[in-house]
Amino acid sequence: MLALVYDSLTGNVRRFAQQVAGEAGAKAPLSARLDAPEGPFLLLTYTFGTGDVPGSTRAFLDRHGPLLRGVVASGSYHWGVNFARAADVIAAEYGVPVVARINKGGTAADRAQVVAWLRARPIEAPSSPSSSLPVARRHPWNPGSN
Ligand SMILES: Cc1cc2nc3c(=O)[nH]c(=O)nc-3n(C[C@H](O)[C@H](O)[C@H](O)COP(=O)(O)O)c2cc1C
Repeated sequence: MLALVYDSLTGNVRRFAQQVAGEAGAKAPLSARLDAPEGPFLLLTYTFGTGDVPGSTRAFLDRHGPLLRGVVASGSYHWGVNFARAADVIAAEYGVPVVARINKGGTAADRAQVVAWLRARPIEAPSSPSSSLPVARRHPWNPGSN
């Protein structure tokens, strides 16, 4: 199953990610601030400023964006048109689906939506071993004609 990576300031998203992982039978979620994913992941983050992506999430995506497969964002209904807008911004920039927009810590229905999305995702084949080798080692050594 896809890894979960969360970014959280006051704990809503961290708790949501932990609950989703438990309900999906996934590994414990990684922290975008502390950890580095080894493969594709679902990002769960929050909305800051006025409909903005948090700086810590941006810094994480600058490094690991190519492995992003979907996004969940928390927000508060109080923010009207900017509700959970971080999800839409990230989805548009990275070409991935918005899996859920949640109010604060989310509901059981939100968790079920994310778990269903995780379970429906086909498992990705790992990239071929040769493509993870340093460039210089991708081709067999050739002694030349002498
Ligand atoms: C300074 C500040 C700005 C916020 N701006 C937005 C916003 O533009 N849109 C939104 O939906 N929620 C906004 N929120 C609400 C948070 O995204 C929401 O409380 C979220 O659940 C926080 O997640 P966390 O507890 O994991 O940090 C803002 C919260 C703070 C403190």
